[in-house]
Amino acid sequence: MSGSSESDGEQGNGTDGRTAGPTEADSGEEAAENEERPTRFEDLALAPPLQKALAGIGFTTCTPIQAETLPMTLAGHDLIGQAQTGTGKTAAFLLTAIQRMLATPLPWEERYASEPRILALAPTRELAMQIAEDAEQLCAHTGHSVMTVMGGVNYDRQREQLRNEALDILVATPGRLIDFLSSQDVFLDQIDMLIIDEADRMLDMGFIPDVKRIIRKCTPKDQRQTLLFSATFNQDVLNLSSMWTRKAEFVEIEPEQKTAERVDQSVFMVGNDDKLTVLTNYLKRPEVEKAIIFANRRDQCRDLNDDLRNQGIASELMSGEIAQNKRLKTLDRFREGQIQALVATDVAGRGIHVNGVTHVFNYNLPDNAEDYVHRIGRTGRAGRNGVSVSFASEDDAFSLPAIEAYIDQKLTCEVPEESLTQPLKKPPIQRRKRRGGGGGRRPQGRRR
Ligand SMILES: Nc1ncnc2c1ncn2[C@@H]1O[C@H](COP(=O)(O)OP(=O)(O)OP(=O)(O)O)[C@@H](O)[C@H]1O
Ligand SMILES: [Mg+2]
Repeated sequence: MSGSSESDGEQGNGTDGRTAGPTEADSGEEAAENEERPTRFEDLALAPPLQKALAGIGFTTCTPIQAETLPMTLAGHDLIGQAQTGTGKTAAFLLTAIQRMLATPLPWEERYASEPRILALAPTRELAMQIAEDAEQLCAHTGHSVMTVMGGVNYDRQREQLRNEALDILVATPGRLIDFLSSQDVFLDQIDMLIIDEADRMLDMGFIPDVKRIIRKCTPKDQRQTLLFSATFNQDVLNLSSMWTRKAEFVEIEPEQKTAERVDQSVFMVGNDDKLTVLTNYLKRPEVEKAIIFANRRDQCRDLNDDLRNQGIASELMSGEIAQNKRLKTLDRFREGQIQALVATDVAGRGIHVNGVTHVFNYNLPDNAEDYVHRIGRTGRAGRNGVSVSFASEDDAFSLPAIEAYIDQKLTCEVPEESLTQPLKKPPIQRRKRRGGGGGRRPQGRRR
């Protein structure tokens, strides 16, 4: 959630065109034809401290996913919610959680350390931190405490906090949470609500055992409320979700298209050897203020980041091999505009919100069509416009039909214009070709 200082005005315009903002709503015939008035937060039965926090952040009108889900979730229903990237799913579940705690306050003497009331699970540490920050903003006047438990940082400090501080909202990544469950530093049998953000990623193959272990330690499903959110769901995940929920409502905000409507998408047909030239020339265009460049493998990201820096681009690496502290610092510097470009694996493709990402590049097309949706959803968020540029070379053009089928949209492939193919001023770094293209292997026999 971005504070009003960064987001004023623009975000109030709703995030996907269905919520008319004040300016749009007040003018033009189209607005007059809108039979339904957009739901305002003040129309919902939210407690005054929450209303005050919302006013402070500058949120007045619900986004469609908030307008559709909040009446049900505030009434206590379990829910699976699907809506486009960047349309405010976080606030939808956090408002429900905080309102629930406000409606059933615990006397001080019944608030224990190690026993959260709300558990929110997220697949990456960056996302966990972001959810916690949003929660803190919404808890500004409620007196609830928020804590993050995640791998890579501050084990001892997290344990001390769990052991010694009364805890309301716990936001966690699965691995570290399991550590603390095993060491009995945290207990989940008193939680009132379980939230799984990016539920399809959390419930895809890799995470299922961890999530199952965590859920087994939670309050039983008939005694807790369970909410799952994501921009993408597949049938397997929906089937699985029904195991964790009780008579869950399913809300899907069906947009015209799966990808964020405000993203102008293009695909460049470009040979592998020309990608760096086209990307570098593009990044030097003045309109590219903040860019995220996705590549599929860590070694590709590492080389690309070196290549871009060699070309004078202020870029940094965001992949799983980078130490967590460094990743968080990098994200902060990117947020503050000190670096222009992040070169990232899909670590940064889920849920991460950075205001004003103007461009997303797919240096390779992703293997999963869902990842395409999440990646380009880093731009065009919260009512803003964005541009995505994907490179389809001889190696990855074969992923295109599956992506087009998934997003139900034809992507026009174009040849990059001449200005983008101008030779680079500085020669690119020469590397030996990797044998077999194996992920993350150092080239054999490279001399330093
Ligand atoms: N009602 C609202 N009015 C204005 N802005 C909002 C509102 N709700 C959320 N936002 C803003 O919209 C942006 C995107 O929200 P959020 O990160 O929750 O999106 P999301 O739907 O979870 O996207 P993703 O699928 O990528 O995770 C944030 O900056 C948030 O502060
Ligand atoms: Mg999200």
